[in-house]
Amino acid sequence: MPRVFGCVVGARPNFMKMAPLLRALEKYDDVRTLLIHTGQHYDPQLSDVFFEDLEMRRPDIHLGVGSGTHGRQTALILEAVEKLLIEAKAEGRPVDRMIVVGDVNSTMAASLAAAKLLIPVAHVEAGLRSFDRTMPEEINRIVTDAIADLLFVSEPSGVENLRREGRPLEQIHLVGNVMIDTLRSLLPKIRPRETLERLGMDFAEFGVVTLHRPSNVDQPETLAALLEVLADVGNSLPILFPVHPRTQARIREFGLESLLRWDGNGKGGLISLPPLGYRDFLALTSSAKVIITDSGGLQEESTVLGIPCLTLRPNTERPVTVEEGTGTLVGNDAVALRRLLEDVLNGRYKRGRCPELWDGRAAERIAAILTA
Ligand code: UD1
Repeated sequence: MPRVFGCVVGARPNFMKMAPLLRALEKYDDVRTLLIHTGQHYDPQLSDVFFEDLEMRRPDIHLGVGSGTHGRQTALILEAVEKLLIEAKAEGRPVDRMIVVGDVNSTMAASLAAAKLLIPVAHVEAGLRSFDRTMPEEINRIVTDAIADLLFVSEPSGVENLRREGRPLEQIHLVGNVMIDTLRSLLPKIRPRETLERLGMDFAEFGVVTLHRPSNVDQPETLAALLEVLADVGNSLPILFPVHPRTQARIREFGLESLLRWDGNGKGGLISLPPLGYRDFLALTSSAKVIITDSGGLQEESTVLGIPCLTLRPNTERPVTVEEGTGTLVGNDAVALRRLLEDVLNGRYKRGRCPELWDGRAAERIAAILTA
């Protein structure tokens, strides 16, 4: 009987990490994958569009948990995943191993459900640490790694962190970055000019910003200060801003809409766009002059694309993007942000290099270890 690997996705950044893994595992006849979507993200623009863009097969099971407080969302996923694992076993189709990616609530909750049922857990993107426990993702990383018995790591700092936490070398595998597998496979297929035209933008040069972390968007003063600098810099370099639903809600709540423009009619400014699918977003980032973000994945993608990345966080769990890549930590310091943007515009910004093993073959390495 083939072994069954339960593969869990829930939120936007999970899809591009799981897609290459599913593809790599499909090559093994003695493995079957069971794709489980928790439903943490449910808006078509945060979920469905990625399945199309990534040519990823539809989930076998959709748990439909939706949004909620951290406790409630985690509890709902835990309960639903546990139920499905128990039922699968009762029906004679037990899940032999769970594979989780990244650091969202779905990652942690699904790991916990599996571990309590003695189903081993493999964590892809293990070992990353921001050392900032005010970030919900840091708690998710620590708990998931503590539970997993196979730790697939994307950069050397992850190996160091796990060793410091006492994890044995046999469990740790530095394999590279699965999200970069997706980027490398889709980069040749994107058409930046077509995307810009479709979005009604005709800028020769522009920046891209994304913002969704509670620490940046949940306080009116912080969000207002960041948007003010971006709107101002946008007068010299238009800034395209695909807005996450969480951020959209805050902008409305805090009455900050006037800082945004809603069209790209040749004029600059900070230009609001709906959340974009993977291909459209890559079309923009790959041709941007600068990327400004609080996202984890985008720090890594910018480094591979060789585009300056001003990271709107005081710390990063992905230090290789700063030490070797194109990233700089800016926190939410509006003065530093303005200065660094000027450096980029004046051609004074540093250059980076691509970290080792971010070569598009991480999923193959992981599949080989999982099936050994
Ligand atoms: C989650 C992840 C974060 C990741 C981000 C990418 C956690 C703790 N956070 O943050 O690590 O970087 O996804 O997007 O898992 N909402 C919608 N539509 C949806 C989903 C959410 O409108 O499809 C709104 C809801 O108001 C919801 C809020 O966004 O309450 C937050 O959603 P949630 O999934 O809790 O966290 P994100 O901020 O998306």
